[in-house]
Amino acid sequence: MKKIAVMIMLMTSGVFASEMNEALMKHGKDIFQQTCIGCHGADGKGMEQGGFNVQPRNLSKTILSEEQIFHIAKKGAFYWGAVVTGMPAWEQVYDDASLRAVAHYIHHTFSKKSSDYAANFKYDSSSLSEKILKRGKKIYGRTCAYCHGKQGHGQGVATYNPEQSIFPYDLTKIILSEKQVFLFAKHGGEHWGSQSDDMPAWGVKYDDETLMGIAKYIETKLKVQR
Ligand code: HEC
Ligand code: HEC
Repeated sequence: MKKIAVMIMLMTSGVFASEMNEALMKHGKDIFQQTCIGCHGADGKGMEQGGFNVQPRNLSKTILSEEQIFHIAKKGAFYWGAVVTGMPAWEQVYDDASLRAVAHYIHHTFSKKSSDYAANFKYDSSSLSEKILKRGKKIYGRTCAYCHGKQGHGQGVATYNPEQSIFPYDLTKIILSEKQVFLFAKHGGEHWGSQSDDMPAWGVKYDDETLMGIAKYIETKLKVQR
């Protein structure tokens, strides 16, 4: 009896938990340094890659949660709506436990601040009026579709330029929640770690209600749930 009690005490004690966490961080750091550092840099801020159309994101500004980082590391960014394949899928190289470890390392070393801001942001679009929802759809068609396309597939007329120099995400495949879409659109791509300013900060032009209407339109009408 006594033995069991001591074991339970140990398991639930901070000492045990912090040792586990240390092991996880170390495992994650090893993988990051073996594999991710060449593109994302030792500080997570991104290393310029020659020949890349879209540069590696600055992970210290990401909107993503630890869980979402794991999913992007596993399947690659293309699976989640990127239109280029610069960020590979690592599921053939690492098992889930390893990729969870690297996500844990990234979250706690670089991205906690930006990701926690997004996670703690209070967002409620449940009582938007019909008028705002209609406006969301209209502004999407008028503004966002220019780059992201009418159906959201990332092939709006802006991408037809002869230099093929703009790479908007396929919004039907994104990992972001409605709240994150709102925040990403409000503050723009650079704010959240994109190395280009191609995705503007729409909070300058539209109020929060309008942006919520747009985010809800993307979430409910364009995004494929999976
Ligand atoms: C060959 C270069 C390269 C390597 C290696 C690489 N990445 Fe990336 N990563 C990218 C690029 C490029 C993007 C941006 C993709 C886009 O937006 O089209 C990216 C984006 C990401 C994102 C999305 C960030 C956001 O805010 O949306 C995560 C998460 C990420 N990488 C994690 C990792 C992890 C973890 C590893 C190592 C296991 C890794 N990357 C290795 C190039 C790379
Ligand atoms: C001028 C072109 C352009 C317009 C207009 C535009 N976007 Fe974007 N958007 C981009 C690009 C390019 C990206 C990819 C990130 C980057 O490179 O900065 C992006 C990324 C995004 C993402 C992030 C997807 C992800 O998973 O990381 C969201 C959400 C988004 N846009 C929403 C919107 C909304 C909502 C509007 C309209 C209010 C809009 N965009 C208008 C170019 C545009």
